[in-house]
Amino acid sequence: MIRLGVNVDHVATVRQARGIDAPDPVEAAFLAERGGADGITVHLREDRRHIQERDVELLRQRVKTKLNLEMAVTPEMVGLAEKLRPDDACFVPERREELTTEGGLDVLTHRAKVQEAVKRLQGRGIRVSLFVDPQENQIEASREVGAHGVEIHTGRYCNAVGDQTKECQEVASAASFAHRLGLEVHGGHGLNYRNVLPIARIPEIVELNIGHSIIARAVMVGMEQAVREMKDLLVRARG
Ligand code: PXP
Repeated sequence: MIRLGVNVDHVATVRQARGIDAPDPVEAAFLAERGGADGITVHLREDRRHIQERDVELLRQRVKTKLNLEMAVTPEMVGLAEKLRPDDACFVPERREELTTEGGLDVLTHRAKVQEAVKRLQGRGIRVSLFVDPQENQIEASREVGAHGVEIHTGRYCNAVGDQTKECQEVASAASFAHRLGLEVHGGHGLNYRNVLPIARIPEIVELNIGHSIIARAVMVGMEQAVREMKDLLVRARG
């Protein structure tokens, strides 16, 4: 089975547009779990554009599956994660200079900083993955800094126009490489109901984190139904 992590950030985006208390990402997480989510993912951004600390505190108490916190590699965010104690954390780039050409975290350039942050969180029992492009050098560096896993950036595959075979193969090769190094392999970014199947069929990938497409569908059919439809696709992918 492949796990579905549902990212509820954009429920908070709609709430922040009005600065009031609805819709509530915590309620959305509850409905996502009822629809079959295997985990809830949120990105607590430094600019607090959508998810707020209050959301993560409540999610920590109420999520019954597992909570995955995406965040930048900064002392502030590492301190917050130590306090909030998610089950999993995923380091993502927020500043341009932390990006590789494709958009994942540049672990090679920021090796010392990333290593220190991984060590601090894993020392607290939080499993850490690094959001990286499908590039062997970044994956190798992720293993060297001691991460539990990598989340392979699927954006290039999702954005490819026409035949996506080459980009899908890049993700598949990266997943296989990461798995051979002993890393747990996740994937995410830009996945939707139309493009998820080839990625979900990559055997080394054990978790996909999907946000925007599920929330967009939830606006039309409700959160529980939108998650169930995605979960059904993942079940179908693995036979
Ligand atoms: N995984 C990571 C590491 C992300 O940063 C994001 C976007 O917040 C996602 C997955 C989900 O991407 P999308 O909203 O395009 O499904």
